Amino acid sequence: MTVLSEHYTLSNGVTIPKLGFGTWQTPDRVAPSAVEMALRAGYTHIDTASAYENERGVGKGLRASGKPRDEVFVTTKVRAEYKSYAQAKASIERSLADLQESYADLILIHAPRPWREMSSHRNPYHTENIAVWQALQEAYAAGQARAIGVSNFAVDDITNLTEHCDIAPMVNQICFHVGYTQPEITAYCQANGILVQAYSPLGTGSLLTNAQIGAVAEKYGASVAQVCIRYALQKGTNPLPKSTHEEYIIANTEVDFVLSPDDMLTLDGIRTRAG
Ligand code: A2P
Repeated sequence: MTVLSEHYTLSNGVTIPKLGFGTWQTPDRVAPSAVEMALRAGYTHIDTASAYENERGVGKGLRASGKPRDEVFVTTKVRAEYKSYAQAKASIERSLADLQESYADLILIHAPRPWREMSSHRNPYHTENIAVWQALQEAYAAGQARAIGVSNFAVDDITNLTEHCDIAPMVNQICFHVGYTQPEITAYCQANGILVQAYSPLGTGSLLTNAQIGAVAEKYGASVAQVCIRYALQKGTNPLPKSTHEEYIIANTEVDFVLSPDDMLTLDGIRTRAG
């Protein structure tokens, strides 16, 4: 069994392919070919977002691939800047229209605060996130989303929702890679049945020249990218590597080796600029 046929099961019973395909920083005009190449390479899980401004291209790639809709898991996100119920509802409608889909498999709140305020905790936007979550809960009830979740949320952002809303997030998509594993939020999610999705599993490319990871990779006859993806999988997360090159897109699926406990510890000990 290869990673391409493995799944996690979300708290509502929906299955999600263990390896996803990232499209952050993939321009709309490139997205159709990138997504089509990924689906041809065997990925069945594509991640996009309203803020990526490539949902039209992602939708085109999905249709061009000829893959039946129910064989692909598609995620999109409500913009971090949209912090009212009405804005969130409109964002979901717009995403589905741009994707030309009647539903997404997963819809996330992109971030707990608008991006320009992400490093400030002056306003936690707790009341606003409850209103946004209400729109996601309604989309879920209406069948516009098969699952709902959050992204870039810290523990207090999540407990705000679980204490005040009916449905707990099924996913938290965070930056997670060798050297930056966000142990507090990762442990919290994993203890509470919230799947951690790992965006930037290659450190947005910054890890590719890391000599310490390179030394581990050599032992397995693997590339640094493959070791990083394998590391994220063995940490129980759902990596979403991004690429626009067919060679990389294919190579990033060839991760059916197992990093030894010792090598996992070595990778745990690596500190990167981002982490
Ligand atoms: P490109 O998009 O030009 O194909 P992350 O997934 O952490 O965001 O990292 C994405 C970056 O890593 C992109 O610059 C991507 O390049 C590059 N990349 C993805 N897969 C590989 C690979 N197997 N080998 C080398 N670079 C890769």
